[in-house]
Amino acid sequence: MELRAVRGMNDILPDEMVRWHRLEAAFRHQAELHGYAEVRTPLLEHTALFTRSIGETTDVVEKEMYSFERHGDALTVRPEGTASAARAYVEHQMHAKEPISRWYYLGPMFRGERPAKGRYRQFYQAGCELYGDPGPLCDAEMIDLISGFFKAIGIPGFKVHINTLGSGGTRERYRDALLAYFTPMRDKLSEDSQRRLEKNPLRVLDSKSAADREASLGAPALIDFIDDADREHWKGLLGALDTLGVDYAVDPTLVRGLDYYTRTLFEVRSTTSDLGSQNTLCGGGRYDTMIEQLGGQKVPAIGFAMGMERLLASIPEGAKKAGPDAYLVPLTPKGAERGLILGRELRALGVVTELDGRGGKLKAMMSRAEKRAARFAVLLGDELDRGVVSLKDLAARQQEELAIEGAARIIADRVQSQRDAGLSAEGAR
Ligand code: HAM
Repeated sequence: MELRAVRGMNDILPDEMVRWHRLEAAFRHQAELHGYAEVRTPLLEHTALFTRSIGETTDVVEKEMYSFERHGDALTVRPEGTASAARAYVEHQMHAKEPISRWYYLGPMFRGERPAKGRYRQFYQAGCELYGDPGPLCDAEMIDLISGFFKAIGIPGFKVHINTLGSGGTRERYRDALLAYFTPMRDKLSEDSQRRLEKNPLRVLDSKSAADREASLGAPALIDFIDDADREHWKGLLGALDTLGVDYAVDPTLVRGLDYYTRTLFEVRSTTSDLGSQNTLCGGGRYDTMIEQLGGQKVPAIGFAMGMERLLASIPEGAKKAGPDAYLVPLTPKGAERGLILGRELRALGVVTELDGRGGKLKAMMSRAEKRAARFAVLLGDELDRGVVSLKDLAARQQEELAIEGAARIIADRVQSQRDAGLSAEGAR
């Protein structure tokens, strides 16, 4: 049997990693500017955490989770980060330690969806969760954080969609209204929707099936069911977004596929990428009841997560390859010995250095230096008998001799001045 990666799970090779690192660093920077600090939770959680928070009738819980039993525990590989973070928040009694907590995370999530471009079974999310502030100013600031981030990383076109789900009794009243609306046309709905109708008629609005979409066209709008406090919150959010000058579209059809949301809901979709129906780059919303449902206090919360693969697919490629600063080319046994030492000296000075240990002809080694996209090659050959090495600037195509004593310092200075000019490998990193 040919051994290959599991379908829908991808290798990210070192060449591509440059873009990932840059994106991750930009995300950390943006999150930290807003006062968020990183949290890391386990990849495995008790299955009950997800069924209770995400909801039993959601696609994620019904069809997509990687669940198994081990040592008597029913476990699931996390399909998203919100439930795990909330579990950790409750478990560590964060509400008693700080009035407001701002957490961010980066990492892989697992959902057994049908793989397509921009839809994978292992994918990476970057997300933020904020606990303890009922909003709506922080709701607006969160949407602004995302929109600022998308601009900073160069997403060429995107649209922010927002909606409100109301809270408390609103959902119940809306649920009843939807049930009354869909029941007479039950036969026209997809099988999934027919089965879920009584338990969760909101799912029909979120369905991808064409039949469900058509049936949903005349459905009652949630905004007509929200109570006064919800309406105040909603107005406050829109006002704050206007103050910040965030471009958004109110989208009454936005429901989102997870059951934990209350009030504010949002998605950011790419308007330029070729991701098709996978063009949702980011999704999130308020979930004011989850912490209490998981056994904690009454703590309001809001958060979002974005799909890293989708972001990378939406931004221009940019510089990809960052080779070493210095590539050492030993041409004689003495050159090899001196190369080992020089390599160590250069690295101690912060110069990214690779030694070509394969040997062979100068031409072969220089071609490997070019392939590695090195900035400088250092030739260690017969000239060592005169106490010198040859330094070759591979971009400027210039060569000069340097005394071996002190060569490391000179090379490090050159690399530094090129970094300052944004030309070297480190500059591209
Ligand atoms: P979600 O909408 O399920 O929300 O996922 C958020 C983002 O993750 C999506 O907009 C998409 O960019 C990416 N994503 C989801 N599934 C896949 C997949 N199979 N392949 C590639 N990318 C994918 C959540 O996960 C919530 N936890 C967001 C949240 C945080 N709500 C409150 N706090």
